[in-house]
Amino acid sequence: MHDDWVRRAVTEMPCPVIANGNVVNAQTGLAYLDSTKAAGLMIGRGAIRNPWIFEQLRAAFTGGTAPIVTGQMVFSYIERLYEETAKVVPHFDENKHVQKMKKNLIYIVQGHPAGFEHDIRRVKTKADFFATCREYLDSNTPAPDLPSENSRLFCGFSQFL
Ligand SMILES: Cc1cc2nc3c(=O)[nH]c(=O)nc-3n(C[C@H](O)[C@H](O)[C@H](O)COP(=O)(O)O)c2cc1C
Repeated sequence: MHDDWVRRAVTEMPCPVIANGNVVNAQTGLAYLDSTKAAGLMIGRGAIRNPWIFEQLRAAFTGGTAPIVTGQMVFSYIERLYEETAKVVPHFDENKHVQKMKKNLIYIVQGHPAGFEHDIRRVKTKADFFATCREYLDSNTPAPDLPSENSRLFCGFSQFL
């Protein structure tokens, strides 16, 4: 994470600077802001992986209660993402849509058992896609707050833990 460069931009630019990159949970977001003194955060992949990150950050700022994300909540999010993105596809093809969803899932599975990514990469049908999601997410236990530190998709965030 180039917090040194962001900090320099904050100091030298006449406009507000927004910090971006590898914010993966509330703790990394707060630490990134603290380190850079940026005017705000932009969160991309971390929000695909965990759309509750904004509520969790807001709670961290205000002292409110942060939502605890369970496997079932992640499953419902995936169902909704499937449905909402299906609505905006001009010529919906179920198998093609599953392939598109797999691109989102590659972010979402980070931090879950490695078998989830392995299995989701191999599904071809909607039935197999949701069966795999259900297998790994059908529980009330909290979903992992962080991706693994050696994840190929998220890196460098551990300096802020
Ligand atoms: C699905 C996706 C689409 C993106 N599209 C753009 C884009 O069109 N233009 C751009 O400048 N950056 C784009 N980015 C890069 C992000 O703006 C951001 O700089 C990068 O993902 C690092 O932040 P993050 O760690 O919060 O994801 C994209 C990132 C993702 C994950």
